[in-house]
Amino acid sequence: MGLSEAEARLIAAFARSAATASSMESVVSELFRTLRMMGTVESIELVYPFDYARWDTWRMSGESPSMTRTDEWPTPPKNAMTTFFDPDNRQAGYVSLPGNASKTGYALETLAPIVWTAMSLQTALARVQKASRSETEMVRTTLRARDEERQRIARELHDDLGQSMASLKLSLKWAEDIARKQKGMEPVVDELSESRDAVGVMLGKIRDLSHTLYPKILDTLGLFAAVKEMTLQVSRHSSIQVTCTCKGKPRALDMEIGVALYRCCQESISNVLRHSGASRLAIQVRYSGKDVSLAVEDDGRGFDPRPLYDSGGKRMSSGFWTIRQRMADLGGSFRLSTAEGMGTVVEMTVPYSSNHKNANKRKNKTAHRR
Ligand SMILES: Nc1ncnc2c1ncn2[C@@H]1O[C@H](COP(=O)(O)OP(=O)(O)OP(=O)(O)O)[C@@H](O)[C@H]1O
Ligand SMILES: [Mg+2]
Repeated sequence: MGLSEAEARLIAAFARSAATASSMESVVSELFRTLRMMGTVESIELVYPFDYARWDTWRMSGESPSMTRTDEWPTPPKNAMTTFFDPDNRQAGYVSLPGNASKTGYALETLAPIVWTAMSLQTALARVQKASRSETEMVRTTLRARDEERQRIARELHDDLGQSMASLKLSLKWAEDIARKQKGMEPVVDELSESRDAVGVMLGKIRDLSHTLYPKILDTLGLFAAVKEMTLQVSRHSSIQVTCTCKGKPRALDMEIGVALYRCCQESISNVLRHSGASRLAIQVRYSGKDVSLAVEDDGRGFDPRPLYDSGGKRMSSGFWTIRQRMADLGGSFRLSTAEGMGTVVEMTVPYSSNHKNANKRKNKTAHRR
């Protein structure tokens, strides 16, 4: 008995849909639908290994399939027509048509290898997705831990060490004032004064370091003020002409959004300083009805961004890669527009309230006053 032309067409259509199926469930549904169109099929049972010691049994008789997972290999039902994917290794799975399905038996033998391939493909895809999910999860956890650690060290530097140094400075001043009132103590006064200056310099360095690690201004005055302050530092320490503007009405942001955009801005500015050779740098923070975005634009040498995107971004270097991860983590987006000799624009946008499952909304908001 061979295949009719209609059956051959149905099998070809099934092969096409199986190749592009989005889940095992849809492979099973499509198989059931195909077999029904070929003859009197009431139900199907499909067994496929989940891993080395567990099997999934898919059953379908109505609108949608159901699945059960077992530790024991499910033996095929009796009084059924069963086709094993690999006759030499029955535990590799099978398709079974309970009842009298002899009409579709031959077609089932042709369909089985396609089903097996489609199920293997789905398993491989699921593994890749799982691996990429856990990679993203790992990156997110690392970035978050890094932010929290920076914040903790910044607080300790500022509040503990900073305060001790400030009181040391006061004590030195007090001792200096006492010494000044006594005759013959000039060398001691000079010594104390020098020490006080040195402590003052160290205190300044500690505050700068604390600020670099975590700008408190982000908590108190918000993203735009923090970014503006960052650009003032750039103007002070480089010959680049910097502008920083704000569009729209600033509003309170989740702390994670503020920190992420601030860090991405820091990285983009650092790129401009290190790689662009630009003479102008323009930063814009824009608050729209639903999202906040930050654009960093320079008029420097630009670059060919294609290698970054080849291989799905896997070759992205750590700066842009971290920006992309931070944005993805908040359900936002990152856009890079550049070409050799054309300057560079980096744009990052984050929705205020993201439904993205990764977005971790913290109650701690950053205030936004200009
Ligand atoms: N504004 C820019 N102007 C010109 N080239 C840039 C600019 N920004 C980035 N690039 C180019 O893109 C590359 C990738 O940038 P990215 O920030 O991802 O990595 P990096 O700065 O080289 O290293 P990292 O950020 O990990 O220290 C840079 O090496 C540089 O060649
Ligand atoms: Mg970089």
